[in-house]
Amino acid sequence: MNVRWIQEQKGALAGKVVLVRSGLNVPVENGVVINDFRIRKALPTLQFLHEEGAKIIVVAHIGREQDETLKPVATELEKHLPITFVQTRDTLNITAMHNGDIVLLENMRQDPREVANDDSFALELVRDVDIFVQDAFAVCHRQHTSIVGIPKLIPSFGGLLLHDEITALTSALNPQHPALCILGGAKFSTKEPLIKKFLATYDDVFVGGALQNEILAARGFVVGKSVVEDGRVPEDILHNDALRDAIDVVAMAPDETARTVRVGAVAPDEMIVDIGEETIAAIAADIGKYKSILWNGPMGWYEKGYDAATAALAHAIADTDAYSIVGGGDTVAVIQKEHLEDKFDFVSTGGGAMLEFLLNKSLPGIDALTEN
Ligand code: ADP
Ligand code: 3PG
Ligand code: MG
Repeated sequence: MNVRWIQEQKGALAGKVVLVRSGLNVPVENGVVINDFRIRKALPTLQFLHEEGAKIIVVAHIGREQDETLKPVATELEKHLPITFVQTRDTLNITAMHNGDIVLLENMRQDPREVANDDSFALELVRDVDIFVQDAFAVCHRQHTSIVGIPKLIPSFGGLLLHDEITALTSALNPQHPALCILGGAKFSTKEPLIKKFLATYDDVFVGGALQNEILAARGFVVGKSVVEDGRVPEDILHNDALRDAIDVVAMAPDETARTVRVGAVAPDEMIVDIGEETIAAIAADIGKYKSILWNGPMGWYEKGYDAATAALAHAIADTDAYSIVGGGDTVAVIQKEHLEDKFDFVSTGGGAMLEFLLNKSLPGIDALTEN
């Protein structure tokens, strides 16, 4: 990985027009940002460029609908830095910008050419720009214009957040032993290669969330109406010594009442919605032995209120001295709700990007910088 880092350009950036791709895809409710985690993580690169006297143009996306706006993000950013919000590159007059000025362009996915990785869009964005900085780690797994298109055109660098993400997640690939890995969330088939990889490199692997349902189903337990793909799990995962099993789960009945039961005691009309207390207590009981802990994905259906196991696990990890890395939007949301963000050594801004980096040791957006 031969990325050139923007910090190394210190002293050489005054008056330079710098296009920055930030990761500002944050949850918004009623026009207000309800979680500023990614915004806070985007600030160091912008502050650095601002102090260096660069002329900064920030591009980013929000949401998945084409009409979504970054206006609430601009309002949030303004609390930390002077920002001008501009609709498109066309309406931006670079010659009128002063050193240190920061302009945020509207949601770049409002233009379908962003997702299509259209060269004409990349050319439009880099017009009169000196250098590009990639700082949107959470989007680096996408083949979009602002991820893989732009670096082909102008000198490109990695930002401060991208640097921290790569450093932390690379260390997770060679963990200090004993090491514990916890994977949650859904989509077993997508995460299967990663589970295999961690079973080989970590001492213990606990699989929670809907992923656990897949394992219970494969072991022949009744999982009722739970979220499962096909209940097929390869033998080398199922019988791996490093795989730690759930002891109990929370099962929800059709009338939406829930009870905690031993695995194997779920009724056919019930749905597994969380990992049980006993299981989390068993993990917590010997969590002190690990030197490193890596965690991505919620333990239960937290949008429905089943976040008890995720929160309990967060507290258990927060209380250890292990080097802890955590990521995934859902998981981080619970950690913040519990006010535990500062208790983890590294909190990744990536969801899918974190998992893909851990699997492949790089991402398209990072490769694009090294090929530049
Ligand atoms: P995504 O990429 O859609 O965020 P993830 O793989 O991160 O998917 O999975 C997270 C989702 O899995 C969350 O919406 C969470 O509520 C859900 N989930 C976790 N455990 C369960 C469960 N036992 N039953 C249903 N949904 C679950
Ligand atoms: C994320 O929220 O994880 C990233 O911003 C990627 O967004 P996307 O999944 O819509 O590409
Ligand atoms: Mg997720």
